[in-house]
Amino acid sequence: MSKSDPSSGGQQMWGGRFAAQPDDAMQAINASIDVDQRLWREDIEGSKAHAAMLAAQGIITAEDNAKIQAGLDQIAAEIAEGRFPFSRALEDIHLNIEARLTERIGEAGKRLHTGRSRNDQVATDFKLWTMRAAREAADGLRMLQKALVKRADEHADWIMPGFTHLQTAQPVTLGHHLLAYVAMAERDRVRLIGAALEAAWECPLGAAALAGSTFPIDRETTAHALGFHAPAGNSLDAVASRDFALAVLANLAIAATHLSRLAEEIVLWTSPQFGFATLSDAWSTGSSIMPQKRNPDAAELIRAKAARIGADFAALNAIVQKLPLAYAKDLQEDKQLTFNAFDNFALSLTSMIGMIETMTFNRAAMREAAARGYSTATDLADWLVRDLKTPFREAHEITGRIVRRAEQLGVRELVDLSLAEFQAVDPRINEAARALLTVEKSVESRDCYGGTAPERVREQIARWKENFK
Ligand code: ARG
Repeated sequence: MSKSDPSSGGQQMWGGRFAAQPDDAMQAINASIDVDQRLWREDIEGSKAHAAMLAAQGIITAEDNAKIQAGLDQIAAEIAEGRFPFSRALEDIHLNIEARLTERIGEAGKRLHTGRSRNDQVATDFKLWTMRAAREAADGLRMLQKALVKRADEHADWIMPGFTHLQTAQPVTLGHHLLAYVAMAERDRVRLIGAALEAAWECPLGAAALAGSTFPIDRETTAHALGFHAPAGNSLDAVASRDFALAVLANLAIAATHLSRLAEEIVLWTSPQFGFATLSDAWSTGSSIMPQKRNPDAAELIRAKAARIGADFAALNAIVQKLPLAYAKDLQEDKQLTFNAFDNFALSLTSMIGMIETMTFNRAAMREAAARGYSTATDLADWLVRDLKTPFREAHEITGRIVRRAEQLGVRELVDLSLAEFQAVDPRINEAARALLTVEKSVESRDCYGGTAPERVREQIARWKENFK
């Protein structure tokens, strides 16, 4: 935007001290209005609380307060309806709203900034925004949990391979696998809500530029009006700190990491090599050259966005870590990172919910894969321990020899090996033991609390449904 741009709004709010206008690039690097206009609701809320308090304390008149309240309400309507003339010369949302207020109500508007600074103002606005965003992200995670529990319920006893090292380990149920992500999302929710609660503890407003105010302001009142527990006890900390945003972003990055792991599994499961699942048309993309392709682009982008959300945390952490107290303009860059992180998270979450709700699973392919790789070997070892009191290490050794034998004979599942072959390794192994080596029996027998047995999976589904009420 050039100096002659009519929308530049002319003289800076702090122009009194300067003879010349700032360089165009100075204005470009300094202005944050394109980003921080998203704080308008919080800014107006904070200003209304501040003005009401100033009047209650006799610092401004009741008439001025009435004008300010009405003027701010009108400005809120203007912004909501897209009629507000945002100006880059006015730098940020705080000065834009204040200048507009004065334009509308005259001198009373000029009294609003008494006893505060943009430093405590922005810290308060941004804290309020971040708290709300954290709670909304937690609500979004709850939607994902509900979608996952529904699919888990439908597939509580569908058998699939469980992996370690991405090598077939033991059979598990799809319901159990999906519920693993419900558990992760629950911790993510608790962390996000916890960070929002922690942020609500102290209100920065009234810390003013850095040292507090000379006016008899009542910080208790503004803190409570804005939903905080108390005013911040140290004015330097109040304007200089952004750990409330760091905590929320760190927790958001962890939640995004969990979405990314699920996305990675969707990419694997929907590959022709796995063939466990198919994404609905609404959540698949085609190739411009290969007509047969059905690509999981949304899942791939969720992985990439998780990386970016983690980088947003890392960037803000790096910005804050070298700043001397108190405020420095570096902190202005906190908002773009945070907004981007939440936008990307919300889009990831919506996409993940859409994919989960509409994908279909291939029962036969999953069962077949579950049986591959002698996945029930541990069940034989456990039988040797349980029924024959064989020490586990010995049972492991015996079972290993049987697996080797099956491999030599090209028998794909242990349950298909003849009893004679089992008994050639250990004559005590009987038909009952051999019958335990199907994937169904394997899964059913893992019935300790939290295990993959369908009955235990259904127990957890019931627990989640109760929890959602
Ligand atoms: N736009 C600024 C920010 O977001 C507001 C605070 C400006 N304070 C100042 N001393 N220049 O950080």
